[in-house]
Amino acid sequence: MSEVKPIFQPNKAFAKEARIKNMCEYQDLQDFATEDYEGFWDHFAKEKINWMEPYHTVLDESEAPFVKWFDGGKLNASVQCVDRHLTERKNKTAIIFEGDRGDKQYITYLSLSQSVNRMANLLKTKFGVKKGDRVVIYMPMIPEAAYAMLACARLGAIHSIVFGGFSSEALKDRIEDADAKVVITADGAYRKGKPYLLKPVVDAALEGNTPVEKVLVVERNHEDITWVAGRDYSYNELIDNESHYCDAEPMDSEDPLFLLYTSGSTGKPKGVQHNTAGYILWAQMTMEWVFDVKENDTYWCTADIGWITGHTYIVYGPLAMGATTIMFEGVPTYPDAGRPWKMVEEHKINQFYTAPTAIRVLHKMGEEEPSKYDLSSLKVLGTVGEPIDPPAWKWYYEAVGNSKCAIVDTYWQTETGGHVVSPLPGATPIKPACATFPLPGIMAEVVDDLGNKTAPGEQGLLCITRPWPSQIRNVWGDKERYVKSYFGDVVKDGKPVYFSGDGAIMDEDGYITITGRTDDVINVSGHRMGTAEVEAAIKKSSDVAEVAVVGKPHEIKGEGIFAYVVLKNEENLGELVDTMQAINNIIKKEIGNIALCDDIVFVPGLPKTRSGKIMRRILRAIAKGEAITQDTSTLEDPGVVSQIESCVKNGTCK
Ligand code: WT7
Repeated sequence: MSEVKPIFQPNKAFAKEARIKNMCEYQDLQDFATEDYEGFWDHFAKEKINWMEPYHTVLDESEAPFVKWFDGGKLNASVQCVDRHLTERKNKTAIIFEGDRGDKQYITYLSLSQSVNRMANLLKTKFGVKKGDRVVIYMPMIPEAAYAMLACARLGAIHSIVFGGFSSEALKDRIEDADAKVVITADGAYRKGKPYLLKPVVDAALEGNTPVEKVLVVERNHEDITWVAGRDYSYNELIDNESHYCDAEPMDSEDPLFLLYTSGSTGKPKGVQHNTAGYILWAQMTMEWVFDVKENDTYWCTADIGWITGHTYIVYGPLAMGATTIMFEGVPTYPDAGRPWKMVEEHKINQFYTAPTAIRVLHKMGEEEPSKYDLSSLKVLGTVGEPIDPPAWKWYYEAVGNSKCAIVDTYWQTETGGHVVSPLPGATPIKPACATFPLPGIMAEVVDDLGNKTAPGEQGLLCITRPWPSQIRNVWGDKERYVKSYFGDVVKDGKPVYFSGDGAIMDEDGYITITGRTDDVINVSGHRMGTAEVEAAIKKSSDVAEVAVVGKPHEIKGEGIFAYVVLKNEENLGELVDTMQAINNIIKKEIGNIALCDDIVFVPGLPKTRSGKIMRRILRAIAKGEAITQDTSTLEDPGVVSQIESCVKNGTCK
């Protein structure tokens, strides 16, 4: 049985004004979807989207799991996010930018429109970008990153944002997989008061054969960078010559809007493909329901645009609904751990959305900081990316939210496009650290391997049994991987259903608690990391014979990366520190700093079954310091377990 958790009722005054005011209204919406699934989505698609041409079919499942939503319809995501606000919200602030060093820009919808149109014209006329082309965006958190996304959307080009923390090798892989012809980047940006560079990473990624023809460089910090003639162009020099209007390409509902690479259970990242209509619809609907942003509110999501949270909840969702969204270049602990609270006070932020790992850092480094600022504007606090632990939840609720804000623990994934299981701030009685109920329209269930619902309190698999508009449409260039990754395992009514890869428990009240990944994907500071990806990088070291990587609980990051390494030449043991350094350097080069190992242990062998499969469960238990209770008799060499345990204990490693 799961533990009994206290319940926090929604704030009454807030609920009165909320879009969904109570659980009856929630249930009505969910009943609408259950009874007339297509009618439900048809209703919202008509209400929310500015269609250039109407669709003829709400949902086409004839080639499931390849589904089509709103087939026949035409629209453009940049029109949905910008043009349609140019009447009533022309002078409303769309984006508030705050730089690392405190510099600010207030960008109205009119000015956003001009910037997006000019960037679209530049890409079209100077670089020949057209519908269907792939454009890689490798940018810091500056407004031009949002302009770049929307400019691509305007032309029908498919953007693929690569997080600025990824290395040149990782960037190169993603550029090549998407066959991108243009990269948009910046010279660099500012972090903790100092300039850093991005452009050299792009230069390294484009060495040798590359599909990239042109690079557009936004000059943010004016540091010295190399310019390649005929390939690299300065945005700052060109942009003023471009006109303020560029026709928006009429896109089919199912034309791709963007790709975003994410980790899976093999060494190669997956290009998650989201298409236009379904994605933008759900981005907008969840923005409205889950954050309940009002016309004069200011909303801040601290994510980076390099992750799906930045796509859906900094750019597409807030702008589609006509909100004011904050973009912050810096880090939450600079100049001190009061920075976010200072920003909340200054900008009178009403909704604040961040990751549990950030909450843990802010708690640890600045427990008293929230009390120094006026945080009374806050109404909704959000978390995303990993399960939030109760102490972090409590501090967030009490110290930041003054025990009056709803905390929405939003569960979703790169593949789901938007929230799928989450509290509604005016309706859902909240149990701390619990994602609560599926959102209206989302048919999420906790099931066993056979697709049967699990009993209350029992661990199961989180599945979504009906297609939904913002779901992943394909793994770029690899239909088979799409089907195998998400629709292989669980069957309901004879049909494969979407399996999230996460375990979950539904309690006796129907509340869903996410228990974490059931595959070889680990969650480091809310970022997804494939253990196979890290292993593939480590294997590039000529000293390494074998490697297995697992996750280990980490106080701040949620999970840390723990690597068991078998060296080719054990006589090298004297130089282990150098070898460790060399391994981390390889990871830095192949993936980036986000994948550096917290622990590297050199071991004589790995626990393998007779068929050669590594028993990761054992390695996970050893990393956690747990005693091995499982049966090791199926191992080829059961003795290796105690050897590994003593390597970990003796710290031949750290
Ligand atoms: C994985 C998805 C979704 C945006 C950020 C990460 C974990 C996400 C929660 C939550 C518990 C969560 C899951 C999921 N996750 N939100 N509220 N509670 N776990 O996107 O990189 O695609 O990672 O993050 O394990 O599968 P992502």
